[in-house]
Amino acid sequence: MPKTLIEPFRIKSVEPIRMTTRAERERCLEEARLNVFKLRAEDVLIDWLTDSGTGAMSSRQWGAIMEGDESYAGARSFYRLEKVIQDLTGMRHFVPTHQGRAAEKVLFTAVCKKGDLVPSNCHFDTTRANLEYLGVEAVDRVIAEGLQPALVHPFKGNIDLARVEALLRKEGHRIPFGMLTVTNNTGGGQPVAMANIRAYAALLKKHGKPFIMDVCRFAENAMFIKMREPGYENTPIRDIAREMFSYADGATMSAKKDGMVNIGGFIVLRSDEWLDAVRNDLIMMEGFPTYGGMAGRDLEALAVGLEEGIDEDYLRYRLRTAEYLGERLEANGVGFVKPTGGHAVYIDARSVLPDMPIAHYPAWALCNALYLEGGIRGVEVGSVMFGRRLDDGTETYHAMELVRLAFPRRMYTQSHFDYAAEVIAEVKQKAGQIRGVKIARQPRFLRHFTSEFDWV
Ligand code: F0G
Repeated sequence: MPKTLIEPFRIKSVEPIRMTTRAERERCLEEARLNVFKLRAEDVLIDWLTDSGTGAMSSRQWGAIMEGDESYAGARSFYRLEKVIQDLTGMRHFVPTHQGRAAEKVLFTAVCKKGDLVPSNCHFDTTRANLEYLGVEAVDRVIAEGLQPALVHPFKGNIDLARVEALLRKEGHRIPFGMLTVTNNTGGGQPVAMANIRAYAALLKKHGKPFIMDVCRFAENAMFIKMREPGYENTPIRDIAREMFSYADGATMSAKKDGMVNIGGFIVLRSDEWLDAVRNDLIMMEGFPTYGGMAGRDLEALAVGLEEGIDEDYLRYRLRTAEYLGERLEANGVGFVKPTGGHAVYIDARSVLPDMPIAHYPAWALCNALYLEGGIRGVEVGSVMFGRRLDDGTETYHAMELVRLAFPRRMYTQSHFDYAAEVIAEVKQKAGQIRGVKIARQPRFLRHFTSEFDWV
């Protein structure tokens, strides 16, 4: 058997991308005030800002789009998707929303109250923000290994059971449910082991707490279990996914990831207990229960996408692309979060720019350098995203300076990855010329999206 893992699809429809000159990119970045979020996507050659809603749909999905039933109530498309989701998750109730954060908002508004506390391995930004907005404390309890970028561990997304148990003992009265993010995006797209999911579920049950999973990358997590957890080598992905869901009482999903669609999300619930409250909030915030925040055609595309997202050949290729880029970085002495995750590679900016002071935001500087060198757009996960300017004018900094390169699904081929590896190596060679930045203007919250910068 040849060892090369190929893209398990061929291309039917193409979208040109445009190579720009260095002078053009310099001008574009200046106009964007040195913030890649403000670039026009047309001026980006390889857009690895996010894997969310950015992937390519299949010809089967585009075909299904024409089948969309746009009836306000009781659309055929709803029942079709409901059946796919019930079969995959084993949960009775499916509540459609327009994306993941809407699922979070609807669920949390229905079941949380001020003063509550919700533990997870790591809450994603919007999950944390939705909880905190309601006055709920969002607590991260990922295992210690999950916070060390260079350390290799098969399941760095695992939750620390001993520390969660301590939390359940001490703060149990404040905890309405426990959460778990699979894969753990904030911690580098790292998977959670089945054994950990099972044990966490048992622990929550012992304390009488429901278990809600954030499952936007459940299929990638299932594939990691198949490849890394003894006993699952021969289990079909669908069965692994079903077992993962079997331990939970409910889940929130951003379908823009492993749902293989450009927009969509949902809540699933096993019991009736929260259903009325959730549906009431849904009607107010999103729409009638048989479409939520989605058009009938989106429901159809998702029904097909959920099946394609658990295809094993696809998933093997998917995880291999991240691993492949990791191997190329390793060969060039570029540090990154190890092992590579499911949807992204996180470059350790300090390994490329060891001499740049933290106050010059090395990960932000590297992000800009990747764009200037090769038209690649990633996202800073460092002190611009997580640091803060305090009222007295001093700055706080983040423990890690990372650049996330997140891969849209079924979109870029191996030569795009080879090209990116070359650009990153080139940038490392020129590290001495890379300029740091200072913040010229910033909003109070979520400053990375809109801040403006000057060169140091
Ligand atoms: N949960 C996780 C783990 C996520 O990664 C995201 C989105 C959400 C929830 C929210 O879903 O975007 O559909 O509202 N992550 C994207 C990213 C934005 O770039 O990682 P959404």
